[in-house]
Amino acid sequence: MTEVKAGSCAVVIVAAGSGQRLGYGVPKARVPLAGQPMVLLAIRGVIKTGVAAQICVAIPPDDPQLLTICQSAAAEAQAKGIVFSVVEGGAERSDSVAAALASVAEGVTTIMIHDAARPLTPSGVFNRVAAALRDGAKAVIPALAVVDTIKTVAPATLPATGAGVEKVVGTPARSVLRAVQTPQGFDLDTLRQAHAHALTLSDDELAAITDDAMLVEALGEEVFVVQGSTHSLKITSPTDLLVAEALLEGPLRPRWIEG
Ligand code: C5P
Repeated sequence: MTEVKAGSCAVVIVAAGSGQRLGYGVPKARVPLAGQPMVLLAIRGVIKTGVAAQICVAIPPDDPQLLTICQSAAAEAQAKGIVFSVVEGGAERSDSVAAALASVAEGVTTIMIHDAARPLTPSGVFNRVAAALRDGAKAVIPALAVVDTIKTVAPATLPATGAGVEKVVGTPARSVLRAVQTPQGFDLDTLRQAHAHALTLSDDELAAITDDAMLVEALGEEVFVVQGSTHSLKITSPTDLLVAEALLEGPLRPRWIEG
């Protein structure tokens, strides 16, 4: 097994989703952003942070083009002494994380899981997550205060026509709500335990798990929160692509002030 310095951090970049909502007809990780495939930007962003002794990218099986793109970053990572590997992801995001967990190098004690769909995450966010892990957190997530009022809803029908709509069933206090981003950082053993616990969950319970922190919460472990960044947007819709390109090379670039 590959070895890194004891006490090192590995960063997993999950890039095995289909990303059809972008409407490009190719997996999201291959969609170009300011001339570079999204996954390459994400990998280069992680290399730049200096937090990773190992980078492992999970990509869809049977995508030789994406494999070639990822491998083109291998030399850049290795030049910085970073162990670099690519694994085949799975059907669900948690399957892709599990595949990457199996290839973690000897000596790694903390791990960050990062979405390839957030290629603009500033180094400051990685550094804040790394600092909280060093300060003893077993799980730490970056997040932002929510600006919209959030409602919970349920199916309903309009009184006069019976037309199917939704109705409000609750309004959680906005002051305690946070929008959660990646990279999410963990003590490696804790994340491994959380994934082992996930094997005992039902399919419905698993389908409700949308991030790694939820798996750790299910263990009863405390999950700490550090400041995220508005630049860490998750690229999901064509509008997100426009914003990301404007941040990278458009009129918003000179105003890139957030760490
Ligand atoms: O689908 P969603 O936008 O939540 O995906 C978030 C991240 O998880 C993306 O970077 C995507 O490539 C990754 N993913 C994955 N394997 C899956 C599903 C999603 O690596 N099966």
